[in-house]
Amino acid sequence: MLNKLRSVLGDADVLTSQAQMASYSTDWTGEFQSHPVAVVRPRTAEQVVDILRIASEFDVAVVTQGGNTSLVGGSVGGDWPHLIVSTRQLREVLTVDPATNQLTVSAGYTLAEVQECARAHGLEYPIDLAARDSATIGGTVATNAGGIRVVAHGMTRVHVVGVEIILSDGEVIDHLHPLVKDNSGPDISKLAVGSEGTLGIITAVRLQLSRPRTAAWTALIPVANLDVAIDISRAIGQQLLAAEVVLTRTANEVAAAHGLPMLSAETRWWLLVEGDAELPSSLLPDATIVALQPSDVERLWKYRELHTNVISHHRDVLKLDVSVDVDQLPTFIARVEEAATRHGVHEDAMYFFGHVMDGNIHISLIGAGIQRRALSDAVMDIVVEAGGAISAEHGVGQLKGKYLPLVRTGRELTLFNDVRQAFDPAGIMNPHVLQQ
Ligand code: FAD
Ligand code: LAC
Ligand code: ZN
Repeated sequence: MLNKLRSVLGDADVLTSQAQMASYSTDWTGEFQSHPVAVVRPRTAEQVVDILRIASEFDVAVVTQGGNTSLVGGSVGGDWPHLIVSTRQLREVLTVDPATNQLTVSAGYTLAEVQECARAHGLEYPIDLAARDSATIGGTVATNAGGIRVVAHGMTRVHVVGVEIILSDGEVIDHLHPLVKDNSGPDISKLAVGSEGTLGIITAVRLQLSRPRTAAWTALIPVANLDVAIDISRAIGQQLLAAEVVLTRTANEVAAAHGLPMLSAETRWWLLVEGDAELPSSLLPDATIVALQPSDVERLWKYRELHTNVISHHRDVLKLDVSVDVDQLPTFIARVEEAATRHGVHEDAMYFFGHVMDGNIHISLIGAGIQRRALSDAVMDIVVEAGGAISAEHGVGQLKGKYLPLVRTGRELTLFNDVRQAFDPAGIMNPHVLQQ
């Protein structure tokens, strides 16, 4: 198999030594390890076709990897024989069609590169997240990524017009056409969004760009509790572009680690909001920090965006990305805190931060002695009682498959398995992901 792969890709793009494969074999969290037969790095869609035909012939599993920023173990495999197909060198196409304001891009470009290309055309690709410089556009589509602009623009699925996806037998499904209207039956491209590498390898995507909505002001507001954060965000109204919360304690941990000024500890939370109209001064308490200049805006965002980075320096972290209805969020977080305390997590080792108006506050609970599995189960029970989602935006990956039956009926799970089987009869595409 390796010889065949080398004849398609050349020696330099078939990596087999531990040293060469190291950065591909461990996921971003360091929790999941892969032991691949090889890491292959195609540069063209044709090479992807050949790789998949070879993998099918030798019945070897294929784990597709973009920027490897998955937080749920989706981008790496395990101990079983598999190839990691790194899509980062798929950089054949990056164009904007002025007739439709649609951008066509190969899967390996980063999210930041796509945003920049849209900006250069006076347009906006509004999906944004802290891993923008590493996450690939293919990975964001494969995970239906959310991020910090969902409150104004929705998730990735909303913006995907079409994809080119290559199935495990090498068949290319190409929906990159420029048609504004196409109702010729169900939309396979939308099925590919959020499929986490289980249906095929997405080699290119076509995205609808929009007219830019630029932040006119950014404000970091001290808030006593989540109810206040929600009330202020709602009062800001239609101009709201982002609404994120952080705990004062953990924001100050970020500040200490990154040389930022400490925030006042008079309130438990801070709310970071942006709007594209007039600053709503009457809504903002005196201690609000307002930023109008780009360097000040960037500084305020650091308190929020560097949370994942600071948490990654801790060991024994249970990370849970879940969502509930916004109105249930304050009670939900209080219940999670109670459960964490019951499981021996110290208050100082609880991190809650994120997308408040999406009902999606990220939970990180830290402690060497805690029974992570039992605590994770307890939090998921609270999620389900609140009618929430076991994954809000990071996907299911290897981490959350066992919780799927809590939120999907048996019929739904069977239907998804049938779809999966139809796309990938050999069962070689990310076989460990989205499995119960
Ligand atoms: P990878 O991690 O490489 O892969 C993710 C999944 O997609 C895997 O299952 C993989 O097999 C599959 N995949 C990747 N590329 C393809 C392809 N071309 N075809 C088919 N399948 C593919 N996520 C959010 O939603 N919102 C956030 O705010 C957010 N913030 C983050 C902040 C930090 C600091 C970090 C580290 C991560 C964050 N994430 C966030 C998670 C992560 O960045 C996203 O899930 C992102 O979409 C993954 O992109 P990637 O290219 O790194 O994909
Ligand atoms: C964030 C990631 C963890 O919002 O989703 O920072
Ligand atoms: Zn997030």
